[in-house]
Amino acid sequence: MSSKVFATLVALATSTLISLSNQSCITQWFDHDDPGGNGDYELLADLVSTNPGQICPNPIAIEAQTISGQPASQTGNIFQVYNPTSGFACVNANQVGGGCADYKVRFTCPEDWCSICRTPWFDRDNPGGKGDYETLSLTLITYPLQVCAQPIAIEVATISGTPVLPAGNNFQVYDPTQGFACVNAQQNGGCQDYKVRFTCPRSFCQPKCITRWFDSDNPNTNGGDSELLTVLLTMYPGEICQNPLGIEAQTVSGQPASQTGNVFQVYNPTTGFSCINANQGGGVCADYKVRFTCPEEWCSKCRTPWFDRDNPSGKGDYETLSLLIIRYPLQVCAQPIAIEVTTISGTPALPPGNIFAVYDPLQGFACVNGACQDYKVRFTCPLSFCQTQCVTRWFDSDNPDTNGGDSELLTGLLSMYHKYICPNPLGIEAQTISGQPAYQTGNTFQAYNSTSGISCVNANQGGGICADYKVRFTCPEEWCSKCRTSWFDRDNPSGLGDYETLSLTIITYPQPVCAQPIAIEVTTISETPVLPTGNNFQVYDPLQGFECVNDQQDGGVCQDYKVRYTLRESKAASRYGKSASGESWASERVTPPDAVVIPIDMSTIWREAVFDTIRHPPSDASLLVSHCQCENLKQRLAMIWCDVTELTTQPHTLPTKTAISREVDYRGQSITH
Ligand SMILES: *[C@@H]1O[C@H](CO)[C@@H](O)[C@H](O)[C@H]1NC(C)=O
Repeated sequence: MSSKVFATLVALATSTLISLSNQSCITQWFDHDDPGGNGDYELLADLVSTNPGQICPNPIAIEAQTISGQPASQTGNIFQVYNPTSGFACVNANQVGGGCADYKVRFTCPEDWCSICRTPWFDRDNPGGKGDYETLSLTLITYPLQVCAQPIAIEVATISGTPVLPAGNNFQVYDPTQGFACVNAQQNGGCQDYKVRFTCPRSFCQPKCITRWFDSDNPNTNGGDSELLTVLLTMYPGEICQNPLGIEAQTVSGQPASQTGNVFQVYNPTTGFSCINANQGGGVCADYKVRFTCPEEWCSKCRTPWFDRDNPSGKGDYETLSLLIIRYPLQVCAQPIAIEVTTISGTPALPPGNIFAVYDPLQGFACVNGACQDYKVRFTCPLSFCQTQCVTRWFDSDNPDTNGGDSELLTGLLSMYHKYICPNPLGIEAQTISGQPAYQTGNTFQAYNSTSGISCVNANQGGGICADYKVRFTCPEEWCSKCRTSWFDRDNPSGLGDYETLSLTIITYPQPVCAQPIAIEVTTISETPVLPTGNNFQVYDPLQGFECVNDQQDGGVCQDYKVRYTLRESKAASRYGKSASGESWASERVTPPDAVVIPIDMSTIWREAVFDTIRHPPSDASLLVSHCQCENLKQRLAMIWCDVTELTTQPHTLPTKTAISREVDYRGQSITH
């Protein structure tokens, strides 16, 4: 009986080694069990659950060897199970004398699994010399960023495309974790020329971003050049992900590491890079810099939108950071920590293998000529950039008729408008004083960034002169929060839109905003920050508040927004915050904000909260409310004055212009300092 079983099992085993498919996507070896106890069990279900993502659920072939590399068919053992659907089992009790050997197994997987995340084909070597070496460590050096550090499967083919399987060939290395090597001396008639490709974990094929270059060491110290990940993570906190997917090394002058002739001790994304002088056969290591690709979850922590400011006509496709800051003000940080580039149809474009003139988070991207496609870029910014930022009012300190141009430099503005601008803005936006975005004027800027401000020099304009510009800034959380009101959400987007204007807010919530705001923050009510640029908002200004008009939106509907203000830190404001002291909160008359139109759906608030005089506002009228001001009366009490004009033609409702007022009690108001 047992010899019958033996015959069947061996026949099955031999047939499974030969796959009818010409696929050759082969996993690494797995050794789950050892032969102690009942025997050696390498069952597929166990292996799939203990090695998640590393084995296809439906292999088309299986191969078993002893852990020292002897094919299973040569051990004399009888196998209980040996097929790709169930896996492998050798039961000690079935063996004639002695027990089972210790086995490892690997699988051939079907095309659909292999192709989920596959690298290109690589052919870095040819069989001249000792043989054809397509090992993973050498491929990582020759094709940086293009291979994952821990592939889950490998395919090998001759360069003419014939798949080559490991079984029956005497290859020195054939394994996804090590790559492939064919040694001439081990082959009858020498090696052919092979190419390899790898199947990578899914995370490798998700979007990934590329860091800037880091150069922490040079070859004159410590016997070589080390750019190890642990060291770089400590030296540049927040600028590199903990678990890079790829690494690229170049000399500081930009030569790819694979062309220097140096031999590397370490060159992989988990450990980093190291070149040791003593290993260079008399020479020394070059001075290297390294950069990394990082996984989606790190890139996406604080990411800009995609930008596509140029197309490849003309000299090429220029998506450089300095031009993007002008074209998309406030939306890019000044010092991005990573960049992603894809074609506009979404195909990722990695730097190696593509000759791009610029590809760096600190400089952006440029493809110069030849056959550039149309690319888009986005950046990963430091986390501070994605925390709430407040937006200042516009400043216009200069005009183009004096001093040969229009300069709105930060240092000058800071001295003129002390306390109205943070010393370290995160973003800057420039427009002409009539509201045209700076990038549309055709002017060339000497400076345009949040650290310097803007400067337009007449002499650089090719005959024309500079427009008259105004600038505003976004400021960091710590500045905005020094003296900040609570959030206001007085309207929702039904009707004409979401009106959170300052005049209306003063009426609805008179207390906190009677002081003069110096900055404004806007978020959706679900707390997603929104900037004035890149959105089509009618009003976004600390002196006027915020307005989103439904008709002006792409989808025809505004979201529901809330606003808060940063107030000038003044004696009055801080006294006001400590209202328990009973002191008067403000001694100044506040400058009126500009006029705003109130659609009639504001009438409820109007009626309840403001004016006894307007008892029956018309249902189809609009009211123009303007020049609201706060005036201090006595302790904790103030008066709000506004001008109201009825915009409809209904004659019976209101006098055309009404001064209105209301007493406001300031006790118990919340304000943060
Ligand atoms: C800002 O612009 C000035 C003038 O063009 C330049 O010197 C400076 O390096 C720029 N700063 C940054 C962070 O790009």
